[in-house]
Amino acid sequence: MALHLVDHPVIRERLTRIRSITSGTSEFREALHDVSRLLCYEVTRDLETTTIPVTTPLCETTGHRLARPVVLVPILRAGMGLLQGFTDILGEASVGTIGLARDEKTLAPHRYHFRMPPALDEAEVILIDPMLATGGSAGDAIDELKREGATRLRFACLIAAPEGVAAFTTRHPDVPVYAAALDQCLDERAYIVPGLGDAGDRYFGT
Ligand code: PRP
Ligand code: URA
Repeated sequence: MALHLVDHPVIRERLTRIRSITSGTSEFREALHDVSRLLCYEVTRDLETTTIPVTTPLCETTGHRLARPVVLVPILRAGMGLLQGFTDILGEASVGTIGLARDEKTLAPHRYHFRMPPALDEAEVILIDPMLATGGSAGDAIDELKREGATRLRFACLIAAPEGVAAFTTRHPDVPVYAAALDQCLDERAYIVPGLGDAGDRYFGT
């Protein structure tokens, strides 16, 4: 499985706050922002760079810049919770948005919004969503991004279920998955266990 588990003491500590039923909206948001910055560091570790000349106060030397533009794509709503941390690190990134909501009975994702910047084919595209449960939402989102021309894709989430990782990597074996935790299983409503509950509700305080 193309799963990269991002393990870090600070991530583990913040994830504990995020999971806890006693954390209110403010603590949940703050901890999610902290984790997303650390996740971004690992997700972008192997992005290609090109060399450029740079003049320091002392001399000419060689610097680096990212070889391609980066497009961040949060899946609405809950993906917005990871966006701030990613844009803290990738200030130049463009942002595309996909709105998907899971039908509570069928679990099928329903698309209600799609807006992308141009030239996805030239970009490094990073799909972000805190939860990989059945894998339906992330799988559909990648289908749409590929249809729009994206070829350099990666998916970053906070918590993944084994069922979601298996489904996603079978459907999109070319797209690496980064997660801060791989949890035990899904429950009968396809919520991740132990998980954190409903990510969108907790981030937006709804
Ligand atoms: C959540 C989450 C993912 C999806 C994961 O969104 O943010 O997008 O569920 O589930 P899946 O892997 O089984 O598809 P939800 O549909 O609850 O919408 P929301 O973000 O608007 O709350
Ligand atoms: N969506 C969530 O917000 N939480 C889960 O555990 C599964 C899907």
